[in-house]
Amino acid sequence: MSITQTAETVSRLRCIACGASPDSADQDFRCTACGDLLEFFFPGWTSGSPVFDPAALKSLWRNRRTSRDALDQSGVWRFRELLPHIPEEHVITLREGNTPLYRLPRCARATGVENLLAKHQGMNPTASFKDTGMTFAASSAHQGRFSWVACASTGNTSASMAAYAARGNMHSLVLIPEGKISWGKLSQALDYGALTCQLRTDFDGCVRILADLVRQKPVYLLNSVNPYRIEGQKTAAIELMEQLAWEPPDHIIVPGGNLGNSSAIGKALVEMRELKLISRLPRLSIIQAQGANPFYRSVREFGGKKLEPMTADTLATAIQIGNPASWKKALRVLQATGGEVEQVTEVEIATAKAEIGADGIGCEPASAVTLAGLKKLRRSGFVKPGESVVLILTGHQLKDPDFTIKFHRGELFSGTPAENAAAQAKSLQRAPVVLDADLGAVIAALDAAERNS
Ligand code: F0G
Repeated sequence: MSITQTAETVSRLRCIACGASPDSADQDFRCTACGDLLEFFFPGWTSGSPVFDPAALKSLWRNRRTSRDALDQSGVWRFRELLPHIPEEHVITLREGNTPLYRLPRCARATGVENLLAKHQGMNPTASFKDTGMTFAASSAHQGRFSWVACASTGNTSASMAAYAARGNMHSLVLIPEGKISWGKLSQALDYGALTCQLRTDFDGCVRILADLVRQKPVYLLNSVNPYRIEGQKTAAIELMEQLAWEPPDHIIVPGGNLGNSSAIGKALVEMRELKLISRLPRLSIIQAQGANPFYRSVREFGGKKLEPMTADTLATAIQIGNPASWKKALRVLQATGGEVEQVTEVEIATAKAEIGADGIGCEPASAVTLAGLKKLRRSGFVKPGESVVLILTGHQLKDPDFTIKFHRGELFSGTPAENAAAQAKSLQRAPVVLDADLGAVIAALDAAERNS
């Protein structure tokens, strides 16, 4: 037997604003009383008495690593004691999670943070962090016997959803902003068989259409307003703590787009401390692109009291989002962990991406905001040189090769206002060298490269 429901794993839904606790959620996953977002909580965990034996739980999770059971092999379902109950017959898994934690020695030198690690969520089955939430939420769609699932996306959610829907024999509908997502992500949704609609709008426009659609059609919404997504994504933080032998780092840094991921990681941290799996909270900081910075402005200009939607514009298309759904959840995480919010420019993002690449890791542009943000947090003194830092890299380098090639050819910023600022990144550019098929020419190129290294 692989999944058991115990008193500890009984979960309930609760509105983050008015506290209403409905038995089930509507199609749009919003509170019927006040319209705000819902979240899961576990009444058994707050009863005052110890719920789990932390050492026993850690050892159970460790032992599952050697199991041949599909659930145990998943880096999400392995931690099912901390997730709401979904019966095993509905589970759709691609053995997601289990992502590596890497040292970044060059980036460490560049930032002056000796203890710098990256948890690479781009090493998931569809090459982004979305898979950890998607396995869980797609399974809940299966449990609800939906034949259609749907999402609005900047590309990664749609790729992930389409894969899990296909594995679960469900149809999927993808709404993406036309011309604003990378080919890698679009091609995934097509291959996994999604009905892919490219709408002439931005991500926020796609979200609006989908919100209306789910009220009229029996489709299951798989955006991160769906609290099952958040629960699945919590496991990235649990797995990270396990990799660190349950010794939390001083800082965790994540990119901020729709703000589901930061909410999920923060929720996991708070819950792990509540359950005494960790003894203290890392500070969780959120980094946005300057051209898509509604959360940064909400915190810095309005003290988190309101969020003003904006028209977002950044080459990091994954986080080109002007009206993030989960901003109130993310705000709570900043406050609970004492984290910071930062914004970074397009050139800073491109430079950081190449620096992560030079460490032999690589990531997509949106993930690189973490390193760019760390540099700023170092300069402001928020992160101290002796402190340990984990960057969450959210997407694989091959998601957006167009960006990478333009950067290395020096074309990414040509003709834009950032052209001059981009000169600072020149030393990182490695444009391909086109030569005749001639041994002498290759040797000359090698000698020239050696002289310049
Ligand atoms: N990094 C990548 C690679 C992403 O794809 C996203 C979001 C984020 C960071 C931001 O995470 O939204 O939880 O704050 N991508 C979504 C999508 C919106 O549709 O694929 P967030």
